[in-house]
Amino acid sequence: MSNLSSVIEPLNTAKGLPNEHYIDDKIFQEEKESVLFSNWSAIGFAKDTPKVGDVNPITFLGMPLLVVRDNDKKVRVYQNTCRHRGMVLISERRNIRGTIRCPYHSWCYGLDGQLRSTPHVGGPGQNTHPDIKRNELGLVEIRSHVFMDVVFVNISNNAASFEEVHSDIINQWQEFDKPLYHNEDSSFELTVKSNWKLAVENYCESYHLPWVHPGLNLVSRLEDHYHIENTLKYSGQGSYVYSQLKGKDNEVFPDFDGLKKKWNTASEYISLYPNVLFGVHRDHTYAIILEPISTNKTREHVAIYYASAEATKARFKDLRIKNKFFWEDVFKEDIFVVEGMQEGRNGKFFDGGKFSPAMDGPTHLFHEWVATQINLGRKEL
Ligand code: FES
Ligand SMILES: [Fe+2]
Repeated sequence: MSNLSSVIEPLNTAKGLPNEHYIDDKIFQEEKESVLFSNWSAIGFAKDTPKVGDVNPITFLGMPLLVVRDNDKKVRVYQNTCRHRGMVLISERRNIRGTIRCPYHSWCYGLDGQLRSTPHVGGPGQNTHPDIKRNELGLVEIRSHVFMDVVFVNISNNAASFEEVHSDIINQWQEFDKPLYHNEDSSFELTVKSNWKLAVENYCESYHLPWVHPGLNLVSRLEDHYHIENTLKYSGQGSYVYSQLKGKDNEVFPDFDGLKKKWNTASEYISLYPNVLFGVHRDHTYAIILEPISTNKTREHVAIYYASAEATKARFKDLRIKNKFFWEDVFKEDIFVVEGMQEGRNGKFFDGGKFSPAMDGPTHLFHEWVATQINLGRKEL
């Protein structure tokens, strides 16, 4: 068991999480339960199941999940496991007409999760049996919530509601919490040889800007940034000098409606604990879902969204591609530091590190939150 007492300390005396939290398989499993399954973790994007009957299987930390768009156009998440012999139900993203049919013995479930048919379950030609109570054998539904098109789940079903946990961010960003528009050319993935938490930690802070993003630093300097700190919920940074990307005829993407004046030039970048990184701007947002694969491997699923349907049309294609490459380049610039920090944590004398009281507040808040979740999990043991 790792010692976390020095992590939950004021910023000026605290240390970072110990090495084991980045390199030890047992702690990875502990974090899976206490940090990722016991909170609202991001697993995917609602845009990937746009139509009624769309199903999208996602394995999150080994757990087979199925994201479904039901008949009321609502996103629901089920455990992707048949109630009969435990076969995985759906293995590829597609649209299904009618019911979710198990490929093994053809038990069929509605999009509402109800078990609808059980062919030959009572013997050849007998599709019912008194001991097979369909109303008790529906798919196991996983608690889910969609915020800014990201599908969040609380797998252990033990967190307060998403609206309660995240009321602050919902308020702070209500101007962006509206229909978002996505074009398939505006998604990409990156795989990094790093623990998922290092991607969160690096995203929270602007301290590294001058050295890791020299290009970005030319337009948005270190002193143009401010910290965003909300203890035990989220942290990040904002910039006062966002300027819109322009196309070859100086065209820009349309803005969100009803934005406060602040957003003419502001942008904000927040790590919403545990595993999603958001960016918001007057004309687009993006979300990066961090999928933890192992102690030292993480997949980053990135989707860029626009403020209006207009921006997804053909006439904005070049500008969309330019915007995608802009962000992809920025995120790629971060890879060597998150991978380097991972490697550095094999140094057995590294003590979690010393935070800058001026620059590392948002990162420390994330460490404090992780440590708090782990301690809560240990109390339950
Ligand atoms: S395992 Fe699904 S119907 Fe048998
Ligand atoms: Fe960065």
